[in-house]
Amino acid sequence: MKRLIRVGVLGCGYWGPLLIRNFRSLPDCRLKVVCDLDIARLKHACALYSDLEGVTSPERVIKGTDLEAVVIATPVRSHYALAKASLLAGKHTFIEKPMATSTAECEELIDIARRKGLILMVDHTFLYSAPVRKIAEIVQAGDLGEIRYINSRRLNLGLFQKDINVAWDLAPHDISIILYILSEFPIAINCQGNAHVSPGVEDVTNMSLFFPHKRFATIQSSWLEPRKIREMTIVGSQRMIVYDDLQTREKIRIYDVRVVRPPHYDTFAEFHYSYHYGDSYIPHLQQEEPLNLACRHFIDCIETNSHPITGGRHGLEMIRVLEGASASLKTNGAPFLFGGPNGGALAPMPSNDGARSSSRPKRASRTASHPRLLVRGIT
Ligand SMILES: NC(=O)c1ccc[n+]([C@@H]2O[C@H](COP(=O)([O-])OP(=O)(O)OC[C@H]3O[C@@H](n4cnc5c(N)ncnc54)[C@H](O)[C@@H]3O)[C@@H](O)[C@H]2O)c1
Repeated sequence: MKRLIRVGVLGCGYWGPLLIRNFRSLPDCRLKVVCDLDIARLKHACALYSDLEGVTSPERVIKGTDLEAVVIATPVRSHYALAKASLLAGKHTFIEKPMATSTAECEELIDIARRKGLILMVDHTFLYSAPVRKIAEIVQAGDLGEIRYINSRRLNLGLFQKDINVAWDLAPHDISIILYILSEFPIAINCQGNAHVSPGVEDVTNMSLFFPHKRFATIQSSWLEPRKIREMTIVGSQRMIVYDDLQTREKIRIYDVRVVRPPHYDTFAEFHYSYHYGDSYIPHLQQEEPLNLACRHFIDCIETNSHPITGGRHGLEMIRVLEGASASLKTNGAPFLFGGPNGGALAPMPSNDGARSSSRPKRASRTASHPRLLVRGIT
């Protein structure tokens, strides 16, 4: 008989119960214990599933001798300490996004997992979703032509977080999707925002990520919008995609539209942009819950001892982008250039064609084409 992977979940707030439901649904997994410091949240989770053991001490889960894996769905400020303790106790560890509060913390976790031969996975849920995988497939096949820009909006009223601003809460979804689609790490980032409700915690941010070859992406994140919006536009030289994650069936629409500048003209009267309006097309997508696929992938990786698609390195790259965004935010939007593996610097923007500019630190351009980020879809 196949051995079941025994799992414990830390955190039963908003997201924890979804993880509990999904891990419980997996045939190769036995969810044994859940934990929350808040007794009311713990009771809520245990009332949903009467077979679960509920504890208020995370140590009971982390040090539990009958568990192989720990899932961390607590606020971000606690991720590092809980994940470190979990890995040191020999448990495979699944951490909710964002992985930790700094790149130094991520690097330490990656190192412990590597030394102990354990699976370390970060939940960048959208990389397990059918629309995002389909978009990446279309882009990487060249069907959109050259990607010109990506624009993403993730807006709604609340849920306000206390320990992180809206960029760290919502933008990781957009950043993970954009880096995955483009298979590239940005050269630079800038970010502006404002804290309107809780002092010091920005509830609205706008960031721009700059990539080589004039490609860029903009991300608008807000907890202060009347309507819930989850929309991304990917604009290519030949076609464009609109991805609306709130649609139930038609999440992606591909538009066969483009604008072409005439190659030659002698007089102004001869000059006309040519607008191409073709069909729009809605590809069929599998209806599978992305979080379920992410949970299943974690269990598969433990069983087969393989690297997760969104492993520790992936989590680290995300935190590098968020740290760059925070540095820029502090200076009201000054561009942050990504440097080598140990960081970057606030500096004038690089030239927009991705070529080296004399004012750009040499390390920045090396990172721009750094292959570590090249992430591939689920097979
Ligand atoms: N992947 C996604 O799409 C997605 C969506 C929402 C939230 N998240 C992530 O999930 C995590 C939790 O977010 P949330 O919205 O559920 O937060 P939340 O505040 O609603 O819930 C967190 C829970 O953890 C408990 N907790 C705090 N410290 C603890 C500890 N040391 N041990 C055990 N329990 C502890 C709290 O009492 C609370 O009930 C965050 O990292 C967040 O970014 C991910």
